[in-house]
Amino acid sequence: MVIVLLKLSTAFTQAQNSLQQAYKNKFLIGTALNAPQILEKDSMAMPLIKNEFGAITPENCMKCENIHPAWDTYNFELADKLVTFGNKNNLLVNGHTLIWHSQLAPFVKQIQSKDSLSLFMNNHIQTIASRYDGKIFSWDVVNEALEEDGSLRKSIFLEKLGPDYITESFRLAAKWAPHTELYYNDYNIEQPKKRAGAIALIKSIQAKGLRIDGVGIQGHWRVEKIPLQEIEESILAYSALGLKVMFTELDITVLPNPWDKDAADVNQKATYNALMNPYPNGLPDSVQQKLTNSYAALFKLFVKYSDKISRITFWGVHDKQSWLNGWPIAGRTNYPLVFDRNGKPKPAYYKIIALAKE
Ligand code: XIL
Repeated sequence: MVIVLLKLSTAFTQAQNSLQQAYKNKFLIGTALNAPQILEKDSMAMPLIKNEFGAITPENCMKCENIHPAWDTYNFELADKLVTFGNKNNLLVNGHTLIWHSQLAPFVKQIQSKDSLSLFMNNHIQTIASRYDGKIFSWDVVNEALEEDGSLRKSIFLEKLGPDYITESFRLAAKWAPHTELYYNDYNIEQPKKRAGAIALIKSIQAKGLRIDGVGIQGHWRVEKIPLQEIEESILAYSALGLKVMFTELDITVLPNPWDKDAADVNQKATYNALMNPYPNGLPDSVQQKLTNSYAALFKLFVKYSDKISRITFWGVHDKQSWLNGWPIAGRTNYPLVFDRNGKPKPAYYKIIALAKE
């Protein structure tokens, strides 16, 4: 009897202590996997990935430079492994990403003519989207197509194909991945001007009778500077368009910002100096507390609107893996996630679990 009760209480604690379990009636909780994790070589991360999450996004392996490195060459090895891993472990896979101006293979940047770029886009989407249709849950079809003022980003796609490349991407994705949800994904689209641009972009897709199922707000934010009001307005505005709302790349930097602006443009870099890396040997309790408070405020909002939100994905499993150790300044020590450098849950983790029950 005692043993049964003990077993039951252990099972109960475990269930409560899993992010995915705690939020299972609200929204999916996901994470981003890097190459060692997809290859199951990050032993610290493996139990966390399997127990804590319900969805995965590849951090890099489905981006053009990796999956389509040359005109006639595709490299599906890691992407296939990710998809098999997800299906085996009951983790919904979000494909990231089909059309994006960053991390393009060099051959794409050298394309000169409109016809060649259009052919690239057709081949790229057909080949990749059809391969994974029915095996993955969703695609970030277009990533980061907007400038901060809400106008279309001056990318190779806009320059050579004109603004219709966005609707064309969604048309091709719907054709070749009819069983896969299709999303627009971007950073700062909670901010009013960029949000207005995103709404116009989404409406232009819908006006052509094309399918778009959701919008991903990346969510690369700064500690104590979470734009809560703008996030709340955005959840309401995007869901009013009939879309699922997701937070797709959540992390909260605790390090100083080298610029006066907030952005997540992977091409922007700044140079290292020690002042920019204040916590190389551990996070002071006072900053840990601020991080916990920022996560708490955010998740309170997510819980409030859980009927409109379908997924919250952290951009990485643990702090050691985070891209924010290397961007926008290489060689820093950052603490943006809810599992620390040893894979241990941080105070923010326990706070997030507790909020699910309130
Ligand atoms: C980042 C990855 O985390 C890094 O490993 C890579 O070097 C650069 O890209 N917005 C996105 C993500 O949509 O794909 C980016 O991921 C982070 C910003």
